Amino acid sequence: MSTAGPRGGEELVFLAIETTCDETGAAVLAGPRPPLHGVPRVLSSVVSSQVGLHRRFGGVVPEIASRAHVQQVLPMIDEAIRRAGIAHQDLGMIAVATRPGLVGALVVGLTAAKALALALDVPLVAVDHLEGHLYACQLAFPEREVYPCVGLVVSGGHTSLYHCRGPLDCELLGGTTDDAAGEAFDKVASLLGLGYPGGPEIERAARAGNPRAFAFPRSFLHDDRPIFSFSGLKTAVLYALRGPNEQLGHVVPSAEMVADLAASFQEAVVDVLIAKTRQVLARTGLRRLGVGGGVAANARLRDRLTALASEEDVELFIPPLGLCTDNAAMAGIALSKLSAGQVADLDIDVAAGLVRPGRKT
Ligand code: KG4
Ligand code: ZN
Repeated sequence: MSTAGPRGGEELVFLAIETTCDETGAAVLAGPRPPLHGVPRVLSSVVSSQVGLHRRFGGVVPEIASRAHVQQVLPMIDEAIRRAGIAHQDLGMIAVATRPGLVGALVVGLTAAKALALALDVPLVAVDHLEGHLYACQLAFPEREVYPCVGLVVSGGHTSLYHCRGPLDCELLGGTTDDAAGEAFDKVASLLGLGYPGGPEIERAARAGNPRAFAFPRSFLHDDRPIFSFSGLKTAVLYALRGPNEQLGHVVPSAEMVADLAASFQEAVVDVLIAKTRQVLARTGLRRLGVGGGVAANARLRDRLTALASEEDVELFIPPLGLCTDNAAMAGIALSKLSAGQVADLDIDVAAGLVRPGRKT
């Protein structure tokens, strides 16, 4: 049974929609109605994953993603509403991630959100997917203050460090110059003949491996800029697997070698993420660290972040796994936007590329 209040009460019940990439998500949240402030609580959150559709291509195929979102978005919304124990008429706001992401995928979520906002005559609030990934920390720890903090987003599309003064004021300090960390996990998993998505597969294989078996490169480790590069690491794994002059198809690595390559690769990624995060903590002097994105589900990274936080005496916020990977609940940041008067017009469009979080829409 939901304890959500009616549409006009002190509590605002709202729907959040996520279709930026390959997960169709819908969530119902409830929080203090502005001008009251507070962190909303999640009444329901459902995700329909398209992983099975993209697996044989080894990555997300944008057109397939868009079509699957079209099929799944309304059933997901209905399911989230059903599980929250509310009616459509109880919704007082529609939130939707409108950037960054795949254009065709984003458009599906935004179109559904606009239709509902118009039909129910409630505000439409557009959110940034990356700000959402960091806000997942605040959703996960509603009793604690997450901001101001250093924000680390590590996902399939992004590897970025932020100085977050508040949920809606995250300054991008730097990011990857080529592949994102999650993308590198996916590509290396494919090289090693492991499944898709690669992150969980590499993590599993790495458990039996030696992280020091291969001395893989750690790009920009001794550079004081908050930037990353993972494409050289990927090539280094390829060469370790088959030598620079051989054909990949001729090599069938032993299970032991796959485990060692996976463990050594994972350790190289984690070393760089930890070193750069440590640098930014030192430079900003911030005492809190929020982490989001699918790669934050990685147990080795979580352990090393926990150790980093204790060494540097900072408070660490990492959401549980379901709030790290793509989900609609993190679009609950919309309540802060509504409080700040940032309501979208019905002619708002999506944005594929990285828009500096904090930009007003
Ligand atoms: O945040 P997310 O769900 O989607 C994007 O916004 O990109 O992140 C997906 C990425 C994929 O690249 C996936 O391989 C990676 O997160 N990932 C992991 C783990 N679980 C998911 N990477 C490393 N270890 C994991 N356990
Ligand atoms: Zn994401």
